[in-house]
Amino acid sequence: MNNGIHNSFKELLDLAGDYLSEGFKRNHSDESDSLTKIEEEIEGCKKCRLYETRTKCVPGKGVLNPEVMIIGEAPGADEDRSGIPFVGRAGQYMDKWMDAINLDRDKDLYIGNIVKCRPPQNRDPFPDEIEACKGYLERQIQLIKPKLILSVGRIASQFLTGSTLGIGRLRGRMYEYCGIPLIPTYHPSGVLRNPDSYRKPVWEDLKAVKKFLSENR
Ligand code: URA
Ligand code: SF4
Repeated sequence: MNNGIHNSFKELLDLAGDYLSEGFKRNHSDESDSLTKIEEEIEGCKKCRLYETRTKCVPGKGVLNPEVMIIGEAPGADEDRSGIPFVGRAGQYMDKWMDAINLDRDKDLYIGNIVKCRPPQNRDPFPDEIEACKGYLERQIQLIKPKLILSVGRIASQFLTGSTLGIGRLRGRMYEYCGIPLIPTYHPSGVLRNPDSYRKPVWEDLKAVKKFLSENR
């Protein structure tokens, strides 16, 4: 029999079985379909004022079950243009961080942001914008199931840890968000502006990432 027809016939039987046993409660969409659904919702989203000024929204990009999910605060100009997270100068620098601990964007990571649309002039996202957008992130994390979250910068790190401390005092220990271990560090654009102060602590944090991953294979 034609394989496509065979498969859809089998799927129909599976669905009928589920319907009889569970009253059609089971969720049949696979994980990538659900990430796609979240992306489609984000594309049409008007839950906060940032939809008015965005060019493209930036839902996030990467693999399922990644070694690390990196979370920044919001898209910048390059991201707003391309729809892809961390592709500008800061993002390219962050790729080098990952290179240094043998992690590859295309194989080992999922990269995203707290808010999915660019704030005008790259201002910090407002608390009500973060609040409006956070449901998408939570659903993404449930599906993506990273081993570890690396939050970059004060805004993302404060939101994910629930702390009001500055990033310099926040970092240096582990937290948890949605049940996933979390390591906070500086934002790559901050490190580019002030390498003498921040390069060393970032390297400590990256070593902590590496250590966690090697102990949790
Ligand atoms: N800075 C961020 O926090 N996120 C991006 O996607 C790009 C720059
Ligand atoms: Fe919707 Fe988030 Fe974009 Fe605001 S930032 S419009 S909540 S997707």
